[in-house]
Amino acid sequence: MNKEKVGRFYDVVWTEYLPEYEASEKHWSLFYDPQEIRAKTVLDAGCGTGIFSVIFARNGAARVTGIDISPGSLGTARGLASRFKLKNAEFRREDMLRLPFKDASFDIVWAWGTVHHTTDPLGAIDGLLRLLKPGGSILLAVYKKTKVTFLHEAVRKTLIRTPRWSWTTLSKAMAFFLAPVVFLFKKREKSRKGEKLEELILDWYFVPIRHHYTPDEIRSHLEGKGLKVEKFLPASGRFDSSSNFIFKARKPARSRR
Ligand SMILES: C[S@@+](CC[C@H](N)C(=O)[O-])C[C@H]1O[C@@H](n2cnc3c(N)ncnc32)[C@H](O)[C@@H]1O
Repeated sequence: MNKEKVGRFYDVVWTEYLPEYEASEKHWSLFYDPQEIRAKTVLDAGCGTGIFSVIFARNGAARVTGIDISPGSLGTARGLASRFKLKNAEFRREDMLRLPFKDASFDIVWAWGTVHHTTDPLGAIDGLLRLLKPGGSILLAVYKKTKVTFLHEAVRKTLIRTPRWSWTTLSKAMAFFLAPVVFLFKKREKSRKGEKLEELILDWYFVPIRHHYTPDEIRSHLEGKGLKVEKFLPASGRFDSSSNFIFKARKPARSRR
């Protein structure tokens, strides 16, 4: 039921946010290049509106499978892939915690900003690792736990109890009061089309499920599964955000799992 709530939430808040192609490709190229992905199979786990699936497909991946729980986002993703006339990208409605693929099906698993929205983020990571071929790589962008996370979570847990119909008004009111603070502390790049502060607030404070981790927690989970961390960024920089950290890690060619 929770995952249905998350799907419905993303049908509303993310479907319209089609991130800009160039800005997203710039972030993607910090981790992959066309040579590394050529002829590879890719799983975009929690693909949302499909921007990264399309970037993999356009840069030479053999086959990209984007999965998500939100039908609205998947519709936008399919539209984006057909706009680019892509034949090597498909989108399916699946729950990340119950993926129906065989073990070792993908060379690359990309999960940007997604596992922390499931009821069991570490279980989701383990499921994604199961799908990775020996020698394959996984990319994870995960919400960072900080000293003030508990405050944000207290606000979010209060706000998600309010009726759905009041969310737009509440997020607009919060945007009105928070705008001067945001202006003082952060000049946001507008890389999500039509992004406004109230939409960011909706995304941040009204999402039904969210978990936060420290980079050390995720690193030791990955290393405990025998993966080798190849790259770590303490902040994503995407949408000018410092709330996510990123790991790119590789499964050993001879897997112990
Ligand atoms: C913050 S959005 C990120 C979308 C995309 N990865 C991007 O970076 O543009 C999180 C996505 O995870 C999806 N999601 C959350 N829980 C999921 C689950 N259990 N199974 C599949 N997708 C899920 C949401 O529907 C949403 O599209």
